[in-house]
Amino acid sequence: MPEINLPITRYYGSKRKLVDRIWNEIERLGLEFDSVLDVFGGTGIFSYYSKIKGKRVIYNDIFLFNSLIGKKLIENVTNNLTYNEAVELLLQQPGIVYDNVIQRNFSGIYFTDSENQQIDIFIQNTNRLIDPNKKLSAYYILFQSCIIKRPYNLFHRNNLNMRTGYTGGGFGNKTTWERSFEDLFLRFIQELDEFTFDNGRDNLVTNDSALNCTEVADLVYIDPPYFSLNGSHTTYHSKYHFLEGLAHYEDIEAHINSQKKNKQIEINNSNEFEQGATFLPQLEKLILMHQHSHIVISYRNNGKPSIKDIEDLMVKCKPNYKVYTINLGMYGYALSKSNLTNSEFLVIGTNHLKE
Ligand SMILES: C[S@@+](CC[C@H](N)C(=O)[O-])C[C@H]1O[C@@H](n2cnc3c(N)ncnc32)[C@H](O)[C@@H]1O
Repeated sequence: MPEINLPITRYYGSKRKLVDRIWNEIERLGLEFDSVLDVFGGTGIFSYYSKIKGKRVIYNDIFLFNSLIGKKLIENVTNNLTYNEAVELLLQQPGIVYDNVIQRNFSGIYFTDSENQQIDIFIQNTNRLIDPNKKLSAYYILFQSCIIKRPYNLFHRNNLNMRTGYTGGGFGNKTTWERSFEDLFLRFIQELDEFTFDNGRDNLVTNDSALNCTEVADLVYIDPPYFSLNGSHTTYHSKYHFLEGLAHYEDIEAHINSQKKNKQIEINNSNEFEQGATFLPQLEKLILMHQHSHIVISYRNNGKPSIKDIEDLMVKCKPNYKVYTINLGMYGYALSKSNLTNSEFLVIGTNHLKE
């Protein structure tokens, strides 16, 4: 577990359990840097760790819902939303006519009908909040609660029945799935009270695709989507489209893909870094965009491209840099046979060395 207390995340590919080891390697190499760009920010864990370490942090992610989470943890320095205010956002306010986009379109897919109604009301009340700090807190607690209530914490399948029809046995976390929004909000509001802080720096969150992100920093952390050698690839958009929809509530209905059983919401569906054939050329472009920065890439050894491919690319793009490939060890929760050979790696390119 990390030495530093970090927000809990249930996000696919989160580096929460690895971030202290990643940081140790960066320190061990003696990399000098004052600013960090976390181009594929996700939960914001690497950004948050860098914030704790006093760096100027720039967080980026292609999805608005992630950027809102990033803004709460990285840009904001306090939480202004109380638990009572959070719960009140679940209730209809007199004199307001509410839309029911989620209830109308997603019955039986991700959440129960009464939860869908709560989501519809909560989002519309949140969008009416004037205080931007409270608004970000409200988004944060809703997104985290929605993730936690889903089987596998994902949205790529219309498998509400896996949750409602669960009858015990080896799989699942029925108790967590059935926890009410009211209950989960308590936990996440407490988390925000605990984790929001000021590191005295002018931190920034952007919401661009990695190749369109024009920000620069002394150190660029690249933690892209990952292609496993075995099995088909499920994109981040496919995994989390529902949350991206909630972040664009007014646009949901115009973007529902009715051909798909899970009614995928096609907002911000991009192929960038999500297709095997174009992944390496895109990574090359990204590394070349950051000519003068230290580059730290996270990847796994059972993926395609291979760690060697990524190392070769770094050497080609940074001919004057020293390139390190570091095995961080095994990942995975259960030590299954396949996990014994699966490792997380860092490929680091640097031009400033301690000695
Ligand atoms: C492996 S995850 C990063 C996890 C993150 N380091 C953490 O600890 O939570 C990859 C992230 O890249 C984002 N993403 C996918 N395609 C992207 C693109 N083209 N540009 C920027 N971000 C992208 C996804 O939304 C996802 O959050």
